[in-house]
Amino acid sequence: MRRKLAAGNWKMNGTGAALEELDELSRMIGTTALQVVICPPAPLLYRACEAAQDSIIAIGGQDCHSAAAGAHTGDISAAMIADTGAQYVILGHSERRADHHESDADIHAKVKAAWAAELTAILCIGETAEQQQSGTTLEILATQLAGSLPDAVSATNTVIAYEPVWAIGTGKVPSLEQIAETHDFIRDTLITRFGETTGNAVPLLYGGSVKPDNAETIFRAENVDGALVGGASLKASDFAPIIAALD
Ligand code: G3P
Repeated sequence: MRRKLAAGNWKMNGTGAALEELDELSRMIGTTALQVVICPPAPLLYRACEAAQDSIIAIGGQDCHSAAAGAHTGDISAAMIADTGAQYVILGHSERRADHHESDADIHAKVKAAWAAELTAILCIGETAEQQQSGTTLEILATQLAGSLPDAVSATNTVIAYEPVWAIGTGKVPSLEQIAETHDFIRDTLITRFGETTGNAVPLLYGGSVKPDNAETIFRAENVDGALVGGASLKASDFAPIIAALD
């Protein structure tokens, strides 16, 4: 049985007051066998870990540097994220790939750094609108997986999030058939490279305009083990029903 996971990416939203949402979320979801992760902006990590310590909510970062330490002004190492008490880190998000020109090779190095700090990497992959229209989605996903995923993948150190760039923050969601096709492809690619046991054990999340009113439908697709949620993770009242739809 693969673990199911609902992760919230707060992106560059929220100051200290937003941590109240963690209490509210914890109260609303109660106990569940699902893994629930909130990835707040870096300045909130430590306080978020403290706020979530008596709840089932785990905390994650949104990026880390590939180096363990050094002269990298403004950057954060994986060990620093782990030191706050966080257990996850999102890597390769399309906004990082676009805004910071992160290549698959850069992301590959970051995943290794995350593992060295004993963080679980939530690796994001996904095609742009142009790539989708030109019919190269699966090719793009294969290239991103091959380039950004190191060899030592395990059932616990990696989660893959498929986020079509054109679906992020747009309200557009692929059809259930499209989601199933891409997730099946990712699953097959993992099995081919890492073998049946590991390839079948890595959770696959869908991300891109997941909302309380479409979550249940999206979660019906085979090989969708959860969601990476942006906007709808900011408010507990939006995220809790998404989590409930996965349960
Ligand atoms: O990482 C989550 C993400 O990019 C999706 O954002 O706002 O479309 O749910 P959103």
